[in-house]
Amino acid sequence: MGLQVAKHNKRNQRLHQHGCISDAVVMTGMVSMELVYIPLAAMVIFMILILVLFKKASPVSRTIQTRVDRVNRIVRESVVGVRVIRAFDNTSYEQKRSDDTFVAYADNVIHLNRIFAMFNPMVWAIMGITMVAVVWFGGYLVLQATTQIGSIMAVMQYTVIILMFLMMSAMVIVMVPRMIACLERISEVLDTAPEIADDREAVASPSVKGSKLIVFNDVSFSYQGAEEPVLRNLSFCCEAGKTTAIIGGTGSGKSTIAALMLRLYDIQEGQILVAGNDIRRMTQHDLRESISYVPQKAFLFSGTIAENLRTGKPDATDADLRQAVKIAQAEAFITTLEAGYQSPVAQGGSNFSGGQKQRLCIARALVKKAPIYIFDDSFSALDYQTDAALRSELKLAMKDACLIVVAQRISSIMDADQIIVLDNGSIAGIGRHEELLRDCSLYREIADSQVKREG
Ligand SMILES: Nc1ncnc2c1ncn2[C@@H]1O[C@H](COP(=O)(O)OP(=O)(O)OP(=O)(O)O)[C@@H](O)[C@H]1O
Ligand SMILES: [Mg+2]
Repeated sequence: MGLQVAKHNKRNQRLHQHGCISDAVVMTGMVSMELVYIPLAAMVIFMILILVLFKKASPVSRTIQTRVDRVNRIVRESVVGVRVIRAFDNTSYEQKRSDDTFVAYADNVIHLNRIFAMFNPMVWAIMGITMVAVVWFGGYLVLQATTQIGSIMAVMQYTVIILMFLMMSAMVIVMVPRMIACLERISEVLDTAPEIADDREAVASPSVKGSKLIVFNDVSFSYQGAEEPVLRNLSFCCEAGKTTAIIGGTGSGKSTIAALMLRLYDIQEGQILVAGNDIRRMTQHDLRESISYVPQKAFLFSGTIAENLRTGKPDATDADLRQAVKIAQAEAFITTLEAGYQSPVAQGGSNFSGGQKQRLCIARALVKKAPIYIFDDSFSALDYQTDAALRSELKLAMKDACLIVVAQRISSIMDADQIIVLDNGSIAGIGRHEELLRDCSLYREIADSQVKREG
């Protein structure tokens, strides 16, 4: 008997200190075996309610997540594209698009809160009914003289503790569907394996030497999910000390070739060799270290001009920067800036003109000093004079480098040692300007159209 009382007291103490639900149930049973069924029944009903809530709230929570994505996208587009929106006088359309997105999001959140709002009174109703049941049956048992009033009071206390536990856990559980939706999104991002990974047996630091610096062997490539290949059976080679130009209509695959050289995508067929090494067997670091790239869309980081120029070579000296800037024909405009090389660059380089940005991107690539340079339509925003001056200085300064120049203007590439004419992903002709004028009808067409336009 003494042992039982000690156990009872210990359990009671633990219950009040830590609040353990099983203790509360056991204590109720110890006080009255007849009344324990009431909180147990309440527990079952409560759990069913939580299950229903979980099932109803889960899909809504998930939709909320996709709506939040959409809201973010629309807000970003409206902010970044504000000039285009104003220029096209599209404000009312954009406003409607934003409104629709926000309303859809708000509808979802209201729906979810309605479900929770319904849940709340039900919880209180269950609590009330349970208490009434305890008092009712307890009173009946007292009248039958099978239990005492003190026991009813104790059972009521324990029932309150049990139901409070359940209510608290319900509060946490209703957060679970949203939590699961968020976790799924996070793990989706974390689990995404990079498509391009270094080969385990990649050749560490292969020397980028030899005359044939880039070789394409029967290369075909399609973007993921695309039906048609973008490039078909390309074979060509770019040599050190020579300029290879790539010309072709928009969407013919010129930028894709540049991206493949940098191994931003893996090819499906054929082989790309850089200095005799298959690029899939090289480490990405070594490959990209050997290539200096000027992207088609001039992109600058926020910071200063000098910081931007040092992107590819952080230890470049001031003299290196000056030399690159001189070749890139950017000297004149940088010297007119009050802070010169320390002038601030706004986000996305928005405080510079298109041509200035392009010249800074070219200078950035030149500072890096690599054996291979890729200029993806990098002279397009330059006037003819600047374009010509830049090309002649480039040729002089980069005598031993392999230059790959993607261009739309024939005048930018007619001096190239080799011109590749692309037609819808296939090579329509390879040769020098005069050879192509003679043998390649597509090149002739491009040349004729440009001569007519300029004439
Ligand atoms: N990331 C991508 N995902 C799917 N398709 C793409 C992607 N980038 C380009 N394409 C498609 O590949 C084709 C070639 O694009 P690419 O950018 O190489 O053309 P381009 O010759 O550089 O054109 P431009 O002269 O306009 O710069 C296009 O039809 C384009 O729609
Ligand atoms: Mg392009």
